[in-house]
Amino acid sequence: MGKFIIEKSSPLRGRIKISGAKNSVLPILAATILTDKSCDINEVPFLKDVETMLELLNSLGAEIIKNKDSVIVSCNKISNKELPYDLVKKIRASFLIAGPVLARFGIVRIQMPGGCPIGVRPVDLHLKGFSLMGAKIKQEHGVIEISTKGLKGADIYLDFPSVGATENIMMAAVMAKGVTNISNCAVEPEIVDLAQFLNQMGAKITGAGSDNIKIIGTDILNGCKHTIIPDRIEAGTYMIAAGITKGDIIMQNVIPEHLKPVTAKLKEMNVMTEETSDGIRVYCGGNLKNVDVKTMPFPGFPTDMQAQFMSLMTVSKGTGIVNETVFENRFMHVGELNRMGADIKLESNSAIVTGVKKTMGTKVKATDLRAGAALIISALAAEGETEISDIYHIERGYYKIEEKLSKIGANIKKIED
Ligand code: EPZ
Repeated sequence: MGKFIIEKSSPLRGRIKISGAKNSVLPILAATILTDKSCDINEVPFLKDVETMLELLNSLGAEIIKNKDSVIVSCNKISNKELPYDLVKKIRASFLIAGPVLARFGIVRIQMPGGCPIGVRPVDLHLKGFSLMGAKIKQEHGVIEISTKGLKGADIYLDFPSVGATENIMMAAVMAKGVTNISNCAVEPEIVDLAQFLNQMGAKITGAGSDNIKIIGTDILNGCKHTIIPDRIEAGTYMIAAGITKGDIIMQNVIPEHLKPVTAKLKEMNVMTEETSDGIRVYCGGNLKNVDVKTMPFPGFPTDMQAQFMSLMTVSKGTGIVNETVFENRFMHVGELNRMGADIKLESNSAIVTGVKKTMGTKVKATDLRAGAALIISALAAEGETEISDIYHIERGYYKIEEKLSKIGANIKKIED
């Protein structure tokens, strides 16, 4: 179990390269199950969640060749063995294997993915889609068995624009008999990236990125070559690190359109951005001032940026309200930030943040992925030394974070327990 030791850092300066998106590469790796040909995927961040997904594919019999930042996956020899629970319970995204295995083999047995600190995270919308496509669903002893004689296209309305449900249903539908329409679906950039990957395999998907996706079932899918889109949440995290240290950095390998909700909100706080020839420049345009923020499905302000944004708010002038509407328990970072001297009060799914002159370094604990990132951000500006334990949460979703931050001047080092 490792720890990060972080000293108050001078303004971050320099260039930082953003890696491929965790929340895009995970469903795309699951989608390789749909073909017996090889898929060559570039810009793969080999972070803990990706390694776990690769182990899950390997447990089904997939052949995996890893290179520096790419992977070739061949699922020509896989069978639909039950997935090892010790791997399934590690990552929520393991449930994304259900749709592809169901589409390829007509039956899948998978453990109910556990909840996690940020919420119960049910899979009812995934299962609603599968059953509307003709699958039978049995749940016993914590294992879900989904089976079908052949999936049929269906019209599916999602009660909530769930990212995972949209992805799982899309992957199940690409080889179904007939046409599937998913309405009120998620419109995140990662959905568009998955749809592009599936279409490169030979699928017939239109409407990805809008709230209605149409999939015309096809017989077989082939392998393909694909480059993962940049990680907009990693980029947003480093933008805030630059803002809180009054730095001036350039982020390379970003898609400005994907960052719009975050750049717009940061500008209101005096963290400015401008597009340059090789990326996006992020710099401080004056004293930080607080605003209100409400998390929403894309293109609203991303829930995955809420904790990091709150860290910035703790040392910004005035009071701001954070309203978390996507997950029911995504304020675990509040207690830890208050231990650093922040002034945050909780009222149901809102946090009232009053900026303080400075926060103080101390011993804190990462409770989940983005809460851990928020603590790193806060530690960069806090007086003295901060020690963050349970950093495995952070390493699930950030590739080489201490290396990347050190390169632009952060005072961060990792120690093994
Ligand atoms: C994806 O999770 C992301 N994970 C999450 O990122 C992200 O926070 C989330 O989308 C929202 O953008 C991956 O892509 C691997 P949802 P997912 O289904 O698909 C409820 C991170 O930090 N819901 O859109 O699980 C659910 O409980 C992670 O990188 C149902 O009720 O999110 C939640 O309240 C955290 N029934 C809301 O919808 C369902 O069947 C959003 O969940 C499915 C979801």
